[in-house]
Amino acid sequence: MPKQIISYKAEQFTESVIREMTRQANLYGAINLSQGFPDFSAPEEIKLAASDAIMSDINQYAITWGAKNFRNAIAEKSSWYLGMEVDPEREITVTCGSTEAMIAAMMAIVNPGDEVIVFEPFYENYGPDAILSGATPKYVTLYAPDWHFDEDELARAFNDNTKAIIINTPNNPTGKVFSREELQQIADLCHKWNVIAITDEIYEHILFNDKKHIAIATLDGMRERTITINGLSKTYSVTGWRVGYTIAPPEITSAIRKVHDFLTVGAAAPLQEAGAHALRLPRSYYDKLASDYFMRRERILSVLKDVGFKCFDPDGAYYVMTDISAFGYDDDLEFARFLVKEIGVAVVPGSSFYHDPKLGSRQVRFTFCKRDETLAAAEERLRQLKSLAG
Ligand SMILES: Cc1ncc(COP(=O)(O)O)c(C=O)c1O
Repeated sequence: MPKQIISYKAEQFTESVIREMTRQANLYGAINLSQGFPDFSAPEEIKLAASDAIMSDINQYAITWGAKNFRNAIAEKSSWYLGMEVDPEREITVTCGSTEAMIAAMMAIVNPGDEVIVFEPFYENYGPDAILSGATPKYVTLYAPDWHFDEDELARAFNDNTKAIIINTPNNPTGKVFSREELQQIADLCHKWNVIAITDEIYEHILFNDKKHIAIATLDGMRERTITINGLSKTYSVTGWRVGYTIAPPEITSAIRKVHDFLTVGAAAPLQEAGAHALRLPRSYYDKLASDYFMRRERILSVLKDVGFKCFDPDGAYYVMTDISAFGYDDDLEFARFLVKEIGVAVVPGSSFYHDPKLGSRQVRFTFCKRDETLAAAEERLRQLKSLAG
């Protein structure tokens, strides 16, 4: 028998479609509205804080679960922004991005046979995260156009094998911001079935239409059963720094810290110092972040609608999910290929956000975390689609 070299786990998922679209954008010289990273500068003062940290020789391993100064800053931010008191000594683990935070959290709590509930469409990483941690994913639909879930359907997804539910608010790819009522419904089911909420809140400051970000950990009785995940990438436009963190009760934090230690030892020490500076920026920074993103949102929505996309207007995060039915393509991958090669704009095919590709075959996702010039150039190219829309 020939030896099976590749693990069964690694065989079960493909490379990231989102990251592949960035490579395609580079290949065809397309404007990249696929992967969610800004093409504008990070704030000057946090860049200075990072270089100061390096010049002050903060160049060796930080404490494996995170530099004290950074953990303190995370606790301060959680208090003023989320209304959540956190013990930086026992409840925070700093990780290499929220990507590592999610897999470390899953590996810390999932046992064989455990089910994890995932709202669909979902951020692509959660699928492989489930496979790698050995969880069986159970999908609960978010229904367009407002991306609500059906309470009964959600209730039916819970059972004795359910270990956790993954929530992502504000949501990628839909732009949904979970309301207090929705989070309460989820919380009630978590109590009933003794389930952990794992909540990815990386877009917590990017909110539109007076929406408020609510951390499920702040709902009655949820603090002890929630793992809150966050990071610097999106709020401070530093996706390449790879600094994220988890907040969880001490017992769960101990398990996450162990997994994290042997996965990566720690996140970049000088960037954690810069992160401490970033989290203490004046509150006006966050207002401007949201208002700048609102202008970009308006701009992209207007051109997408004008050329024939049906848009699901986002309440948060920096993406627009669209319906492509007007263009006569039945397949999102084919349409995305056409866009990147012929029109010169890269997007993410909708199917990458669903466990069954058919469910996303009429959708593509645009990101708008880009400079005005980039959006203007994309607009000019997208106008060519107008003649195609039926
Ligand atoms: C919902 C969500 N979580 C996590 C990430 C990755 O975050 P990080 O850069 O902190 O690993 C992204 C990036 O697009 C995202 O959209």
